Amino acid sequence: MCGIFGYVGYKEALPFLVEGLKKLEYRGYDSAGVATLDKGKLFVSKCVGKISDLESLLQQKPIAGEIGIGHTRWATHGQPSHLNSHPHEDCRSELVVVHNGIIENYMELRQELSARGHKFKSATDTEVLAHLIEENLEAEGLFSAVRKSLLAVRGSYALAVISEREPGKIVAARHGSPLIVGHGEDEKFLASDIPAILKYTGKVIYLDNGELAEISSEETRIIGLSGKSVSKKLTFISWDPESAEKGGYSHFMLKEIHEQPNAIRKTIEGRVEADSHKIHFDELNLTDEEIRRVNRVVFTACGTSWHAGLIGEYLFEQLAKLPSEVEYAAEFRYRNPIIDENTLVIAITQSGETADTLAAVWEAKARNAKTIAICNVVGSTIAREAHGVVYTNAGPEIGVASTKAFTTQLTVIYLLALLFGKRRGIIDDNEATELIRRLIEIPQKMEQLLLSEPKIEAIAEKLSKATNALYLGRGKGFPIALEGALKLKEVSYIHAEGYPAAEMKHGPIALIDENMPVVVLALAGRRYDKILGNIEEVKARGGQVIAVASEGDTMITEKSDEIIYIPSTIESLSPLLAVVPLQLLAYYIAVKRGCHIDQPRNLAKSVTVE
Ligand code: AGP
Repeated sequence: MCGIFGYVGYKEALPFLVEGLKKLEYRGYDSAGVATLDKGKLFVSKCVGKISDLESLLQQKPIAGEIGIGHTRWATHGQPSHLNSHPHEDCRSELVVVHNGIIENYMELRQELSARGHKFKSATDTEVLAHLIEENLEAEGLFSAVRKSLLAVRGSYALAVISEREPGKIVAARHGSPLIVGHGEDEKFLASDIPAILKYTGKVIYLDNGELAEISSEETRIIGLSGKSVSKKLTFISWDPESAEKGGYSHFMLKEIHEQPNAIRKTIEGRVEADSHKIHFDELNLTDEEIRRVNRVVFTACGTSWHAGLIGEYLFEQLAKLPSEVEYAAEFRYRNPIIDENTLVIAITQSGETADTLAAVWEAKARNAKTIAICNVVGSTIAREAHGVVYTNAGPEIGVASTKAFTTQLTVIYLLALLFGKRRGIIDDNEATELIRRLIEIPQKMEQLLLSEPKIEAIAEKLSKATNALYLGRGKGFPIALEGALKLKEVSYIHAEGYPAAEMKHGPIALIDENMPVVVLALAGRRYDKILGNIEEVKARGGQVIAVASEGDTMITEKSDEIIYIPSTIESLSPLLAVVPLQLLAYYIAVKRGCHIDQPRNLAKSVTVE
């Protein structure tokens, strides 16, 4: 996944391009580049490395012009190198392209273009776009030349093009990767996502798949791949600019961990009536009859969102008595799933752009299943592809390691399970009122739990030298064990494994020795005694145990080396609280290890390629 930014207006473009790319750096950061048009002449500057490296290059050799495009890369085709960094030029160096996505038929196009005399400089798929547009520019204007070129392309793209032939315009197009046009006063912005333009304008147009835009400081014209004009409405974004900034925290990840109580409040807001049992999901787009007709639920997602799906499986079976299962999106889409019009497929995705999750939704729709997306980005692709969408109102999640998106996903899933339980007559009004009341208590309990941050930081100090770690849980504690392990892997690069505690004796217990820290979710509930037994098995083999336990639990004290207590709540809601210490543990271990928290190596915030 990569980041694209563009500016056209009456000010120098370069500062906007650099600032915009910095906001997009979490989308990919192995190389970066910019291009501007100044008095009809094209100027390009690019390099391997981060935006800060590009900034140093530009300080020595700035480029001028009131129109420009920029790109920060997460390599898919062609290793990170100067030649493979964007923008890419045509043969005459009269036009440049920046691109996010994958041109699947690029080899075939490259062969055809080379046979017609085009000379390629890079190993990327993107460069074929520059040469295709160059060819079509012979007979067409830039807008039409880009459109015609894209008719020959298979794959995903969000792209921007500028050319010396039409120096006042940026042509942009999208299919499968996000792209947004921001409308300022006599200036326009183009970006891969909202935080990059939010400080300049909240008035945006979301390009949809198969749409192209011709952007000048005066106007934005939009057409489809057919060439037919498309009218789009402006969307007004209410996020305030600093909500996309760090807000005084050292890293976005820590800020977003602390934002969780309010993010959960905002996700609940407007959906429940605290003093009654009513739940509203207007955007669900399912009638009560359609809800009652559902006889099976399939959750599909990737990574952390898949862990939310595991909790969803428990909650839908427990609260709505609906047979449920969870599928990795990449597996689901190729598995020839046995689903039909009575199956509800719930796709969970923070970004709304994850390629595998999108493809899973398309697969489900092709088999007549109803599809709902649980998503954090308004207007993202999945929000427009699924039959219904329920937004987590967590605000922008910039840290690559997902935190507030996860707990707000769990919040939505809990409310959906309640709604389905009520519509199916499994839960009566009194039960619903009580379960909603318990949910509304969670943010305040989470704020209380966050006060134990210094204790968790101290535990992190001890674990920061570990080379491996095990996370164990039972029931809903198992998905949280998986999530805690993923957080640690992602940000600290320590190999960590989440495992069902009961499975330890079937092999993994061989791993236990004094060098193996074991984090155990030992929460109050009907599996508590069994989990105590698992802790004793670990202790008997010299393992060190860090227990996440329910406040007031005294039995756990003599069995664990470290204990992190979480406030008491009902068993269905305990995952929302239990995950927070594990997020903080991973964060502080990574800080002690000097890792790059918000942009871990090899990762990107949203994986928009297969
Ligand atoms: C989570 O911390 C990871 N960054 C990753 O597993 C992520 O959850 C996964 O890529 C899915 O992303 P999505 O929710 O945007 O679809």
